[in-house]
Amino acid sequence: MKNISITLLTIICILVFNTGYAQFIPGQVWKDVTGNPVNAHGGGILYHHNTYYWYGEIKKGPTWRVPGSTWENYRVNAGGVSCYSSKDLQHWAFESVALSPDKADSTNDLYIDKVIERPKVIFNRKTGKFVMWLHIDSKDYSYARSGVAVSDRPEGPFKYVGSVRPNGNMARDMTIFQDDNGKAYHFYSSEENSTMHICELTDDYLAHSTNDKRILINLSREAPAVCKYNNRYYLFTSGCTGWSPNAASYAVADNILGDWKQYDNPCRGIDSDSTFHAQSAYVIPVQGKKNEFIFMADKWNKTDLEASRYVWLPLVFNSAGKPEIIWKNEWQIGLEK
Ligand code: DGJ
Repeated sequence: MKNISITLLTIICILVFNTGYAQFIPGQVWKDVTGNPVNAHGGGILYHHNTYYWYGEIKKGPTWRVPGSTWENYRVNAGGVSCYSSKDLQHWAFESVALSPDKADSTNDLYIDKVIERPKVIFNRKTGKFVMWLHIDSKDYSYARSGVAVSDRPEGPFKYVGSVRPNGNMARDMTIFQDDNGKAYHFYSSEENSTMHICELTDDYLAHSTNDKRILINLSREAPAVCKYNNRYYLFTSGCTGWSPNAASYAVADNILGDWKQYDNPCRGIDSDSTFHAQSAYVIPVQGKKNEFIFMADKWNKTDLEASRYVWLPLVFNSAGKPEIIWKNEWQIGLEK
């Protein structure tokens, strides 16, 4: 009898305290499985062969302000792009420096003196290649280009191909969205960040087509993150205030190339007017759970960029189809509502 009671108690404890779902504490130091803080900022997620891969900017070492800058241009040496893997979105194992910076040639796009930001990786089913796009810039952000790199394996090493100004346009903050039909699109802040562009990539994902549209015209938005829900496209962005947080907004389109209609702040709860002190990076569709999304954001620490944190929150759609990002001190996938 005593044994049966202990077994029952154990089962109850497991059910109550361990649901088996990934658990998130937004803004807290997030350690990888070996106990080191995850270093993958401005990141994006690839899901491939039952594994999530998190790619992001490596921010390591001292932060300084670029001399002579008229704005708060804080930076660290470009550390390249990290790759972590996970089965459950909570426990992450460091895989590699997927794209290494260059420490020798100051003319190289990947030289440590440059800006390497917001990497996004997609898999091309036709070519069997993993393709990484990223924002490449000079330390004063006047270069304004998009870089591309390829690999045969998700963890890299990625081989840098080069950088472009898509269709001749300036390109800074960016994301890549891969649609269900395999077409991929590059969203990028352009025209001195005043106007967003969306451009369809070529079938191999390595170049831009001429199908390039101006959206969110003169709205000065950056940090784009995109998802698809009920056959509509949702684009989350921030305002342009450097590393300092501001209010998010979102736009909706029935066709990915537009028209895009802009709406107000989707954030709800305490500090929603500053996106919970964070800035959008990516929207993760949770695999095996229809219509479950995670809003992935960076809580930048501008004077110590290595100490920047992550804010991951549930992105839900209310009964009217409006997206809502709701603050939680702590939450679990599947139990967020
Ligand atoms: C805002 C962008 O979203 C970041 O990725 C970074 O480029 C900072 N500006 C630099 O100030």
